[in-house]
Amino acid sequence: MRILTGLQPSGKLHIGNYFGAMEPAVHLQDQGEAFYFIADYHAMTTTGDAATLRGNIQDLAIDFLACGLDPEKATIFRQSDIPEVNELAWVLSTVCPMGLLERCHSYKDKVAKGFAANHALFAYPALMAADILLYDADLVPVGKDQKQHLEVTRDLAGKINDRYGEGTLVIPEAQIKEHTAVVPGLDGQKMSKSYNNTIPLTGGKKAIRKSIMRVVTDSTAVEDPKPTDGSTVIALYKLFADDEQMAQMIADHEAGGFGYGDFKQRVFDAYWEYFAEVRSKREELENNLDYVNGVIAQGAEKARQEASKVLDRVRHAVGLR
Ligand code: TYM
Repeated sequence: MRILTGLQPSGKLHIGNYFGAMEPAVHLQDQGEAFYFIADYHAMTTTGDAATLRGNIQDLAIDFLACGLDPEKATIFRQSDIPEVNELAWVLSTVCPMGLLERCHSYKDKVAKGFAANHALFAYPALMAADILLYDADLVPVGKDQKQHLEVTRDLAGKINDRYGEGTLVIPEAQIKEHTAVVPGLDGQKMSKSYNNTIPLTGGKKAIRKSIMRVVTDSTAVEDPKPTDGSTVIALYKLFADDEQMAQMIADHEAGGFGYGDFKQRVFDAYWEYFAEVRSKREELENNLDYVNGVIAQGAEKARQEASKVLDRVRHAVGLR
């Protein structure tokens, strides 16, 4: 089985990215042939500054390794090191109806938020389809916000196979884990950089504690029982806590007598402990950038071998050779 996923270098990773994509990716690297990449071409749709992009790419490379992606098990690379992906995106574009892209939520959302409606933003899903199809991926672990992009990918692969022959492209499946499909942000909406409601994966203790203290709660008095259904505090705690801690948290909600400040402190403590290893690995890697960049360079070589095989197959099938 071939597994593939990508994350954009568009600023600090948050725990939504971690639980939606990174943790499953770490888990899946033991289950098959894994390809994990830094989607730097994609990040250009929202980052127009070269120094910022360069810094974010370096940062994400460090995060990949700090989170436990293992170059002995997975091919870890940068999207733009394999420019062949643009050629496949072009081939896919020739079977991609405008309406399919026009219906994509992420495009509509970004335009609604004021991003320029340029061609790259519009064609984003076609490039993402190429990312996946270029490596014959079977399984793509992602958060729920990418579900529609995976449907576009399957759709385009199907159209290519219909036109040029079955087996030209492998049709992938999304893997979206129910309990981490949509990690809520501080305000209870989906955690997202663009909503400014994130809990970063790593960072200073004070700043992160402060942001967790901003989690929106209701105004139930300290002495009263607190609702657990739909509670963001509960949903976040669930990500880090074991069964016993979770049972205690729910019992204390139901009993009353504990304030939200206390519950948020528990969320912070659990968070802090959960990511202790990621933080310490990150520190180590920040002082060892040659190693990090060596991993990415090696990954590019391996990824390119696979990519050129698939692209060759496609070129023959479509008549470019
Ligand atoms: P990106 O960089 O926005 O997000 C990376 C991953 O994090 C997941 N995610 C979440 N999961 C659960 N809850 C949340 N609140 C949350 N926020 C983000 C995303 O679903 C994603 O899995 N288009 C992709 C990058 C990409 C890609 C690909 C992914 C480019 N090519 C090919 C897979 C395969 C994106 O924007 O990710």
